[in-house]
Amino acid sequence: MCGIIGYSGNNSALPVLTGGLAALEYRGYDSAGIACWEQEKIEVVRRKGKLSVLEKALEGCFPESRCGIGHTRWATHGEPEERNAHPHRQGRVTLVHNGIIENYREIRRQMEQKGYRFLSDTDTEAAAALIDSLYEKDPLEALRCAAEKLEGSYAFAVLFEGFPDCVFAMRKGSPLTAGVCENGALIASDLTPLLAYTNRYYLPEDGEILVLEKGSLRLYSQLLEPMEPVFRKADWTPEQAQKGGYRFYMEKEIHEQPRAFRDTVQPRIREGIPNLEEDGIPDGFFRKISKLRIAACGTAYYCGMMGKALIEKLARLPVEVEIASELRYREPIFAEDEAAVVISQSGETADTIAAMRMMRERGIPVIAVVNTPGSSIAREADYTLLTHAGPEIAVASTKAYTVQLAVMYLFAIRAALERGTISREQAEIDTAQLTDAEKAMELALNRKEEVRRFARSLLRTEHLFYIGRGMDYAMALEGALKLKEISYIHAEAYAAGELKHGTLALVTGDTPVIALITQPELEAKTLSNLKEAAARGCPVLLIAPGEVKWDEGTQLIIPGNGGLFGPLALIVLLQLIAFCAADERGYDLDKPRNLAKSVTVE
Ligand code: F6R
Repeated sequence: MCGIIGYSGNNSALPVLTGGLAALEYRGYDSAGIACWEQEKIEVVRRKGKLSVLEKALEGCFPESRCGIGHTRWATHGEPEERNAHPHRQGRVTLVHNGIIENYREIRRQMEQKGYRFLSDTDTEAAAALIDSLYEKDPLEALRCAAEKLEGSYAFAVLFEGFPDCVFAMRKGSPLTAGVCENGALIASDLTPLLAYTNRYYLPEDGEILVLEKGSLRLYSQLLEPMEPVFRKADWTPEQAQKGGYRFYMEKEIHEQPRAFRDTVQPRIREGIPNLEEDGIPDGFFRKISKLRIAACGTAYYCGMMGKALIEKLARLPVEVEIASELRYREPIFAEDEAAVVISQSGETADTIAAMRMMRERGIPVIAVVNTPGSSIAREADYTLLTHAGPEIAVASTKAYTVQLAVMYLFAIRAALERGTISREQAEIDTAQLTDAEKAMELALNRKEEVRRFARSLLRTEHLFYIGRGMDYAMALEGALKLKEISYIHAEAYAAGELKHGTLALVTGDTPVIALITQPELEAKTLSNLKEAAARGCPVLLIAPGEVKWDEGTQLIIPGNGGLFGPLALIVLLQLIAFCAADERGYDLDKPRNLAKSVTVE
């Protein structure tokens, strides 16, 4: 959701900035722009479209520059046009911004009265004018005063005329990371651009101001007192944030799943059963609570639905799953002794952060299942359980979902053991089967050619239904979302038994219906529903383990025997279907239209 970068050092600034923007491009790709100090002047180059368009325009630019800022945009205020692209300049201030200035209309009006003229439709340009109006001699003072007047969320990187080769940065609510290496100092919206230079990073708090100057990093408190930054060390490597020989990040990330699954599960198994004490979750936690509430968005929300199915089934603990953006506005009733789980890959999703803060304010302990160390959610939750997918760059989430799902299994087995709904022996059997699921995931990855053949048959498909019951319905929701977001096929998930209550009217000879079956007890019922669809003349496909007999259409075999852990192999097939369908249509799989990965606005 917009990526910003800033650099000041001894190296040529342009490759650092464009390289950093390439790593941040998953956050938005409606436009891109760069401003650099070049021969004591600030020059700006911006273009509509992806970074590659800007890179062409930048050929031969900024040969001398050692300092600059950059931006890649996911449009919120104003169309994706060049005039709305960042950096924005007002007076002696040039800046890039990630976030939303909520009171920008009022600020813009005040600034217009002072004589500022606006060229864009953005909220950002109002902030640039405000900061310029407050800038007399001291950039720090201008930023501090602006922070008092700005409402909303922001991470800014700012160039001030009069301070050559300096980048000033400040945040509130939006993510920002800073690092120093031998040849320069950097700030960026996340860690990935820094990894090429350093694995030590500083995460500024709201209101703190950073100054990058010729390789040095200075930090100031909200009251402009100098401070000493305390750096963290990242486990992520630069290679993890590269394509590693694959054509797309998404393809690489799908293939990384067995490794990510192992890294997430294995360290949390002690004496054959899940143990969450190293994550700070005390023994007996699940025994003491009366209810669990899971809040998340998108793919992470669908993972929450799987969490509900698993935890209720195994541990008999009531679970409510909430779309994070809805939770705050429907005045929920919280139970006594309730606990919450928030699930997030980025740890920066604004709606999930808001839901987490609301629940914590109501005294509910929150466990975060989060993939990005040091993210807002990881820092603010009562308990943080880090998943180990490594950086996920493709906009469509794959490996992050799978490791979140792995954690739902760990929770379910641990909770069941603590609440006495399964024996220690059964918990050991379940845990062993969970770790074994890695092999079925590997086998599912080997089905790629079969999946591709099926995906070719979808070349002209515009509408499609996934159906399933129970956990398979939750999986259908995720499978349909993957297909929608990268192949643009209108895919809907339906509870298999519900299709005939109205929606079956939409099924025609051009509308494939795909049934998912991993749970043996639901096999007969879901097969009947698939037959009902087939009787209407639509193409049908069954995705199920080999034991499920089906001779009325195509079947894609899920490796393994299905059952409780069957969804872990199924998800790989669903991701491959979406990947191959989009690839057959020739789309950019890592950058689907209109989307951005990290949704840091509500
Ligand atoms: C879909 C997808 C999104 C995210 C959602 C939440 O493939 O990636 O639906 O799952 O935006 O993001 P996080 O997990 O970062 O909170």
